[in-house]
Amino acid sequence: MKKTQTMAGRKRILLGVSGGVAAYKAAELVRLLVKAGIDVRVVMTEAATRFVGPATFQALSGQPVYTDLWDARIPDSMAHIELSRDRDLVVVAPASANFMARLANGLADDLLSTLCLARRCPLLLAPAMNVEMWENAATQDNVRRLASQDVGLLGPAAGDQACGETGRGRMLEPAQIFAAVSLRLGPKPLAGKKVLVTAGPTYEPIDTVRGLTNLSSGKMGYAVAQAAAEAGADVTLVSGATALEAPAGVTRVDVRTAREMREAVLPLARNSDIFIAVAAVADYRPAETHAHKLKRGAGSMTMELVPNPDILGEVAALKNGPFCVGFAAETENLQAYAQEKRRKKNIPLLAANLAQHAFGQESNSLILFDAKGEHELPLAPKLVVARQLLDHIAAMLPKRAR
Ligand code: C5P
Repeated sequence: MKKTQTMAGRKRILLGVSGGVAAYKAAELVRLLVKAGIDVRVVMTEAATRFVGPATFQALSGQPVYTDLWDARIPDSMAHIELSRDRDLVVVAPASANFMARLANGLADDLLSTLCLARRCPLLLAPAMNVEMWENAATQDNVRRLASQDVGLLGPAAGDQACGETGRGRMLEPAQIFAAVSLRLGPKPLAGKKVLVTAGPTYEPIDTVRGLTNLSSGKMGYAVAQAAAEAGADVTLVSGATALEAPAGVTRVDVRTAREMREAVLPLARNSDIFIAVAAVADYRPAETHAHKLKRGAGSMTMELVPNPDILGEVAALKNGPFCVGFAAETENLQAYAQEKRRKKNIPLLAANLAQHAFGQESNSLILFDAKGEHELPLAPKLVVARQLLDHIAAMLPKRAR
């Protein structure tokens, strides 16, 4: 996407307000954004004006508010282009079920939907609707479609709703939306850096239908790849088999075995600034892979296992190699093993977690071990933890020029 330069570095947002009771909270959001020095232009749907008058947003943003595709204030009658081109970000809060449905289907039947379709900058939505509307299969379908169109969702949260019901569908609080927006608009500490991430399990075949693998879901590695991309890096993700979609803007290379992962990683690593090994790589593989499905026999069976290459170890040993970050999933004596592993692998940073708490879960907590000691990243959704990890890595980088 083409990036529009902003005058004097001031960030510019287009805030879309669609029809929902939560529109009153959008007024507070404008106040927070303006207070932070952000230039806010408000576009409302017709339905939104039934909840809060444009004059409120005009007063808070200090700018005219637009609702009409044919607004005569835009000289060339191209409001959908004019109003979005100088923006760094479009945020729609609240985003109603109807607005999300129109957007997911590429409809452009009012100013806000047309402008979203014509935009060049990222788009974030803060959904707000009744719990049944949110949980309806049609809305959930639209949510998936929007995610595949690289539209970011903020919330919704669960709790009491204006209609008197309780459940998921509440718009995030203005302060939470403001925090997410600030993060999006914030500095890009890894701009210009090439980041290589491994994720997911490996699969080591025994025969044509059986193999050795582990419970890694890939969620942590994918979150790390997304956080690195958000931080401005050019990210390649070498992934074992997972059920996950590659994060937006990330190049994914699919592999199955540890040896395939090694083959994919080594040439890429030579050309990377940072290597983050999140994959749960099998330490051993069967010495022999049978070309046919093994038959059941009488008595026990013995299988010889041979060690797999240590991918992280090899990358860490490269001359002029990337800044290496390892992950350690220990089930006991975390601290002692982690320190030892970091030294043994000769890497500047190791992120340790207790495997039984992290595998397949949505949240994780990490302890980072570096030359300075330990830093704890408390339990939070994996993407939140991943962003903190990337901040930590970015802060360590200048001290270790390649
Ligand atoms: O020694 P251990 O397997 O616990 O080390 C874990 C770290 O090393 C992880 O970052 C993992 O991705 C990486 N690793 C690897 N190749 C292996 C085994 C582990 O890159 N064969």
